[in-house]
Amino acid sequence: MAPDDVEAQRRRWRDLIDERLPAAAAAHPDWPVSRNHCFARILLDNACGGPWRESVAPPAWVNMPPERLALALSLGEAVLAGRQDLAVLNHRSLLWRRKRPVPAPPARLPGDGFGLRRWRLADDAPFAALCADPEVMRFFPAPKTARESQAEARALDRRFEEDGFGPWALETPEGFSGFVGCWRPARPLPFGPLLGRETGFVEIGWRLARHAWGRGFAVRGARLALDDVFSRCALTEVVAYTADVNAPSRRVMERLGMTEIGGFDHPGLPEGHPLRPHRLYRLEAADVLDGGGPRACRLR
Ligand SMILES: CC(C)(COP(=O)(O)OP(=O)(O)OC[C@H]1O[C@@H](n2cnc3c(N)ncnc32)[C@H](O)[C@@H]1OP(=O)(O)O)[C@@H](O)C(=O)NCCC(=O)NCCS
Repeated sequence: MAPDDVEAQRRRWRDLIDERLPAAAAAHPDWPVSRNHCFARILLDNACGGPWRESVAPPAWVNMPPERLALALSLGEAVLAGRQDLAVLNHRSLLWRRKRPVPAPPARLPGDGFGLRRWRLADDAPFAALCADPEVMRFFPAPKTARESQAEARALDRRFEEDGFGPWALETPEGFSGFVGCWRPARPLPFGPLLGRETGFVEIGWRLARHAWGRGFAVRGARLALDDVFSRCALTEVVAYTADVNAPSRRVMERLGMTEIGGFDHPGLPEGHPLRPHRLYRLEAADVLDGGGPRACRLR
């Protein structure tokens, strides 16, 4: 953006925040805020996909990359035009700032011809069957015993209690068909050099029974799960990783619009193991949320 355009954009921003939005607030008793600094917080946070101070030094309207400020401006213009729900934007900003508790997970996320739901004890048998299938587990060190699978199912469902989100059981017309969803990695993984920080990662993953492959359940289920964590839980970023050689899983990551950011050796596998080299992908909330709330997530 040319320097004159940057300057003009900053003037438009000040006019929006200091004049136009506070003036319009008088006619909008339904708006959750009416002061200039509250409008700025909401729009800047939503343009950054998290508390803006985490990525921009104050004053944000001077230091923010022009394209991010342009996004904040367009969100504000849309609020004024009645095309954007300010309460939804505010809710997300307050969640990011931990000023509001994360709402409890829904029992089910409905999809078209499938659904994501919490785990049931009856899932143990079909889950053990898919985890014992050498074809499903060909990119894992080994298939799992029924006992290992049962313990894993319990641990996966417990994530919902611990974090408020987790790997959902996938329900297709054939019944339980695997899982897809987000969780915090259980073991420390060497993402630091790639992501510029050492903690706070949330990953997304999937494991489907063979009968459910090639029907779009992984990608469509992942979109539902991402939509949920980016909106209800207000996560700002999700990563995914898999063995270099796991082309089907990398394809799902790419179809989700995730960006490949580098490679690492999985610390749980020995030197020379063919599954040790892994690829890491990232998706940021700001790149997929368009500010209109869960139903307007661009992942859909
Ligand atoms: C990784 C895994 C989940 C991918 O499953 P998948 O069936 O290939 O992925 P999807 O369900 O999203 O299906 C995508 C394919 O379905 C097709 N498809 C059919 N109907 C579709 C629809 N309605 N919407 C979207 N895609 C559809 C797509 O064309 C796509 O194929 P393409 O990528 O060749 O274009 C599966 O291979 C698996 O469970 N592997 C074993 C476990 C594993 O490795 N997990 C990952 C560990 S990191």
